[in-house]
Amino acid sequence: MRELPNVKDLFEARSLAVIGASATPGKIGYSIVKNIVNDGYTGKLYPVNPKGGEVLGFPIYKCLKDIPGEVDVAVITVPSNFVFDAVRECAEKGVKFLPIITSGFSEIGNKEEEKQIIAFAREHGMRVLGPNIFGYSSSKISLNAAFGPNNLRKGGVAIITQSGALGIAMMGKTTVECVGLSCVVSIGNKADLDEADLLEYLENDPETRVILMYIEGVQKGQRLLSVLERVTRKKPVVVIKSGRSSRGAMAAASHTGSLAGADNVFEAVMKQAGVMRAESLDEAFAWCKFLTAAPAPKGENTCIVTNGGGVGVMATDASEKYGLNLYDDQAKLKEIFSPVTPEFGSTKNPVDITGQAGYKEYSQALTAALENPAIHSVVALYCETAVFTAETLQAMMKESYEKYQKAGKPLLFSIIGGEKIEKAIVNIREDQIPVFPDVYQAVSCMGAMYNYSRHAALPAPVIEARKLNVPRIKETIAKAKADGRTFLLPWESKVVMDECGIRMPRNAIARSHDEAIKLAKEVGYPLVMKVASKDIIHKSDAGGVKLNINDDAGLLKAYEDILTSCKKYKADAKIDGMELCEQVKLTTETIVGARRDASFGPTVMFGLGGIYVEVLKDVVFRSLPVSRAEAKGMVAGIRAHKLLEGVRGEKPKDIDGVADVILGLGALIQAVEEISDIEVNPIVVNEAGKGVIALDVRILLY
Ligand code: ACO
Repeated sequence: MRELPNVKDLFEARSLAVIGASATPGKIGYSIVKNIVNDGYTGKLYPVNPKGGEVLGFPIYKCLKDIPGEVDVAVITVPSNFVFDAVRECAEKGVKFLPIITSGFSEIGNKEEEKQIIAFAREHGMRVLGPNIFGYSSSKISLNAAFGPNNLRKGGVAIITQSGALGIAMMGKTTVECVGLSCVVSIGNKADLDEADLLEYLENDPETRVILMYIEGVQKGQRLLSVLERVTRKKPVVVIKSGRSSRGAMAAASHTGSLAGADNVFEAVMKQAGVMRAESLDEAFAWCKFLTAAPAPKGENTCIVTNGGGVGVMATDASEKYGLNLYDDQAKLKEIFSPVTPEFGSTKNPVDITGQAGYKEYSQALTAALENPAIHSVVALYCETAVFTAETLQAMMKESYEKYQKAGKPLLFSIIGGEKIEKAIVNIREDQIPVFPDVYQAVSCMGAMYNYSRHAALPAPVIEARKLNVPRIKETIAKAKADGRTFLLPWESKVVMDECGIRMPRNAIARSHDEAIKLAKEVGYPLVMKVASKDIIHKSDAGGVKLNINDDAGLLKAYEDILTSCKKYKADAKIDGMELCEQVKLTTETIVGARRDASFGPTVMFGLGGIYVEVLKDVVFRSLPVSRAEAKGMVAGIRAHKLLEGVRGEKPKDIDGVADVILGLGALIQAVEEISDIEVNPIVVNEAGKGVIALDVRILLY
């Protein structure tokens, strides 16, 4: 068995065969050879086709074994029924990588053949890209082995795409948008090589400065995340994913499941891994281009320089949306900008040098910002006026941009106007200067830059080891399973919560009225009574919960009322008795859930809890494990976080206590694979230092 090759040999292939190369223009096997020849591949090219002959001046070999030298990569573009034979020939020849263009495999249900091909290839030391791809490019060897556009511009952006047609369109767009590429890889059915394998190469590829991924679905999510967490500390990764809509939400037996909708989890875990998700292709391209060229800011202070008040306000709004920190030291701003701002302008940020500002005034204002160390980045806005010609505007932008690049300070422009301005934008982009016709787009690029720098500066997460008595938990679960149940009863859940260090109210199960009176003394009034029945999961819906029981008389009445309602709700429900529970004062109610996501494995959710959790949907997700800092970050991440931080003179709540629950449930779902979902709702959060208390727990089993 041959050792699997290093992905480097795919991107730095010294020799490449095209199996199914065609001399007939218009065929895919012809287009690929044409692009390889046109873009000037630096290695050896071997077209292969049983008919022989020649294509674009290259002799066509009748079979792979006729090729005199070694072949690193064989691009396969023969009909699907011939693919396996071609793969066998490649094994004999010792080929390392097989980009398989051909469609007709798992994407149309032909999973078995695809599986066999991959297994065979791997057994013979070969790795497969695809099948069902448009090819790949690698600027290092000037290779364009794809049936997309040619004359690709070289540069620092690597594109990995799952979609074929969109991928080809993206390649075309890079030439129009002047985006330089280090590589484009179509992964198609990703039956063997996937995003994670490619990211591992790109992580250390000096030519790749930014990675853009288009993803439709994720299979091995945990591996992808662990690679992304590493890569994003070295270079920015931007992702576009289709499927934001709520239709993708999964039907599940818990709030956590239904709130998890595939996209919410994707969004959250990408953020956790430091990946930036773009809303659109345009946004993704703009970010990639800016992040490739701009120096990283040395601090948080951004300054907006404008010749128009209106666009200045728009940019201020956009700054809030994209997380820019506008420099706010008014005295210092006055000192920096007074000498270059007319009386009727404004030195506040946005600095308004007014509509009369021409070449000289603009340059002076940008120079003042550049030279002052208190300002770390600049967004320059320009609305078309008669005092600037398109030529002087371009010259000013070029000059300022070069100075800023040299000084290591990020600068970008947004210019708004008519035909001349639109033309100027096209010209300036040719010079790789970041310029946008829209203020929001410009600010979003600076926001992406800050997002990335903040993530890269974060310390590596420290994961706490948590000890759980796993055998005891498993024993409890085994009993439930032996009983034919796929969920734990309340007292069983309490055993599990005890093991996780999560406090629940004092409780006891009464199986008769007399026993209830006796146990109520131990639990203490006021108390809550809940029906104990494995046949009733939604207790409140069944009228199976009574609050505010203050004495023995109330206790007996509640017992009777619950029995009556539950029998009405489900006549054949077997009622084991009543659970008596210490009544906890409801203050801030939260929810913590944990489940196994189909793509990303164990995940944890935190949010505002109680009965409106699915209406409010104020929840956040993370992939496990999480550090304590990340768990606290989840609390800070919900819209209603201020409720926990203390509002209207209230003391802050016990956020460390919440973090303990998050970490405890996280450890539990990771350690006990029999559990599919855990949900603790509500968890009442007391003042800081006074802990949290879990009122209800649902544990579902596979
Ligand atoms: N070894 C070498 N060459 C062979 C072999 C073989 N074993 N068998 C056949 N060939 C040659 C043929 O003789 C032909 O050459 P010719 O033009 O000189 O006659 C060439 O290979 C191609 O074979 P054809 O039968 O002509 O097949 P065709 O070119 O029509 O289609 C293809 C082949 C392109 C692989 C097709 O089967 C296919 O899968 N198309 C879809 C590709 C695709 O869309 N991929 C996803 C991209 S992403 C997106 O969606 C845009």
